[in-house]
Amino acid sequence: MRKIKTAAALLLVFCMCFALSACGSSADHTQAENADNATIESTQTQADTKESAETTVQSTTEATTETEESIQPKQEDTESETDVLVVVFSATGTTKGVAEKIAAIENADLYEIVAAEPYSDEDLNYNDNNSRTSKEQNDASVRPGIASESIDITKYSKIYIGYPIWWGQEPRIMDTFVESYNFGDIIMIPFCTSGSSGIGKSGSTLADLSGNGNWIEGKRFDGGVSEDALREWINGL
Ligand SMILES: Cc1cc2nc3c(=O)[nH]c(=O)nc-3n(C[C@H](O)[C@H](O)[C@H](O)COP(=O)(O)O)c2cc1C
Repeated sequence: MRKIKTAAALLLVFCMCFALSACGSSADHTQAENADNATIESTQTQADTKESAETTVQSTTEATTETEESIQPKQEDTESETDVLVVVFSATGTTKGVAEKIAAIENADLYEIVAAEPYSDEDLNYNDNNSRTSKEQNDASVRPGIASESIDITKYSKIYIGYPIWWGQEPRIMDTFVESYNFGDIIMIPFCTSGSSGIGKSGSTLADLSGNGNWIEGKRFDGGVSEDALREWINGL
């Protein structure tokens, strides 16, 4: 009887051990499975995120390309559509600033007259009677060279033409410019900047020298003239 009891006890212990070990292995398996799933999910999420990021980058790139594409033709259209040109010569940038404002208001093309021999500070010294500008302005026959490529003016019906006042006159390089083109029936509108002098006879001198174009009376502006003031002038032309 005692042997039977011992055998039964041993069997019970064996069964319990087996049950516990099965349980443990199942728990390990579940943990491993969970870990695997977590890895897969995390990898998946990373993949999704990457894909989403790539999609975003792609769509941003597409959007950028689209924006560039949609801007470019507009610029081309603007360039090809406008029949207004703003021509400017500016030694120190003042008249150019005004020209840019006029071009923005008129949606016009801008053409800058660049001197073949740039004007240095010494050249521009009006306190020196022997400076280059003093000599040029004292001799009406001087025609300084132009470095900028010539422009096809045939598509324009209106040209603003701007310059600084030098010794009460247009710089001689403006004479070079107007004598180089046939303005036909184009409406020519002179404008200038100065320290204080008015536009004087410079507009009519340019008209006489060109011998063509439909010149109207021009106007002198301060370098800091506002866009509103320029718009008012343009609307009243
Ligand atoms: C050689 C020279 C002569 C000038 N003569 C006059 C003048 O007679 N009357 C005047 O009011 N300003 C005169 N100025 C001042 C300019 O007209 C003025 O600074 C102008 O706005 C400069 O324009 P820019 O920066 O486009 O060259 C003269 C300037 C220079 C360099």
